Amino acid sequence: MEKLLQEVLNKIKPEEEDREKLENVVNRLMDRAEKIIKKRDINVKTKLVGSAARGTWLKGEKDIDLFILFPEKYPRDELEDKGLELARRIARDKCIEQFAEHPYLKANIEGFDVDIVPCYDIEDPGKLKSSVDRSPHHQEYIKSQITSKIADQVIILKGFFCGIEVYGSDLSLKGFSGYLAELLILYFNSFKNLIRKAKNWGKGEIIDFTQKSTYSEDIYRIFPDQPFIVLDPVDLSRNVAAAVSEENFAKFVRACEDFDREPDKKFFFPKTPDLSKDDIRKVIKRRETTIFTIVFDTPSDLVKDIIYPQLRKTKSKIIDKLSEHDFKVLRGDVYSNSNKSIIVLELCVPDLPRTYRHQGPPLGVKSYSFIKKHINSDGRIAGPFIDATGNLVFELERKYTCAEKVIIDSLKNRYGFGKHVSESIKRSYDILRGDELTKIIDDESKIFFSKYLTKCLPWYR
Ligand code: CTP
Ligand code: MG
Repeated sequence: MEKLLQEVLNKIKPEEEDREKLENVVNRLMDRAEKIIKKRDINVKTKLVGSAARGTWLKGEKDIDLFILFPEKYPRDELEDKGLELARRIARDKCIEQFAEHPYLKANIEGFDVDIVPCYDIEDPGKLKSSVDRSPHHQEYIKSQITSKIADQVIILKGFFCGIEVYGSDLSLKGFSGYLAELLILYFNSFKNLIRKAKNWGKGEIIDFTQKSTYSEDIYRIFPDQPFIVLDPVDLSRNVAAAVSEENFAKFVRACEDFDREPDKKFFFPKTPDLSKDDIRKVIKRRETTIFTIVFDTPSDLVKDIIYPQLRKTKSKIIDKLSEHDFKVLRGDVYSNSNKSIIVLELCVPDLPRTYRHQGPPLGVKSYSFIKKHINSDGRIAGPFIDATGNLVFELERKYTCAEKVIIDSLKNRYGFGKHVSESIKRSYDILRGDELTKIIDDESKIFFSKYLTKCLPWYR
């Protein structure tokens, strides 16, 4: 395993020249920030945080996180206004504003993606005003613990997360964050050691740096229903793994089990399925399911963190409606790029017969109200009768015999849909059936559909 990990590291660790380039850009950026701040005579500090500041970034990744720290007593609206204004000057206007819980700027500077984030300089990380205020504390903590050997192990773990497609804590993915990778390596000392422990993890695994709270029940009470709990050493009230979905947690545990049994490069460098339109048609034909693809314009100016939860909520509301009317959904997924958003719903059967079975009360419960309700209804096809197991039954007409009609009506009512998604669907949408989806495929969405149709753990592809 050691030899393989060294080979992997050689491929994914930034070279000396990458480091120099990053350092140069960071130095210029920090100098410029200092000058701008000095000129304006305000009492703020700048701090470089994240993987660029800790030597834990992956080769090819160009991400710089620059924080602007305001004194605690600064009013929030002023922090937002002043913070963004300073950020805009530092970025020389080559930027777009983003809203997370807190507004910040994304800029492209000399080929690097720079996040410039205003936050509070809070002494006690237990008393934050906003979650971004934690990042400078993370920086201090990791900086105080990390060595270059540990940083290499973090890089290997991030490469593994990328390879098994669970890296990134944004809500489109719900995977493992960079900070979480750092903490896991600090806790277990090496990638190999982590893998050997993690392959046996189960739902509700707890990692506690302080080793203080011995009672898992207490921890479960604070973090109910979380598959993985890693207490943040700088703020014990936070679960660093809060974003990790059950799916991604289990995927990691299974990957560790398989990797430990048979270490292989494919865990780090998996194949990406990329089907041609013809292949897509063939796969859809072979599945013999009915795939409905709902397509609409992506609500503008929204980050993925906002759109994806809305898409998932919308998808699950439509599935609820389909299930209510007996249509079984085999699988589904959502996808969004800057242009189009997509909800895929794959049904076992798209049409059902007019008749369905409607069961009444068991013996011991009076039957009259049940019978009265249905005996004269237009929808009665047969019944009342009693089946072989003694149940009262009517056979009635269904409201919907066709799944597409259920979907269309859901899209008309939009009950419980995400707000922005609902507004966009209200303006217009398309429903594509089966291989009609090839009509809207572009280079970006092709990978999404290829992965959907050949769904498989990356290391088994
Ligand atoms: N952060 C966090 N939780 C998240 C995302 C970010 O606590 N879900 C904080 C961490 O302190 C992190 C910093 O914000 O170090 C910068 O975030 P990001 O750029 O996403 O992560 P990096 O650690 O820099 O990892 P990388 O950029 O290599 O993915
Ligand atoms: Mg970063």
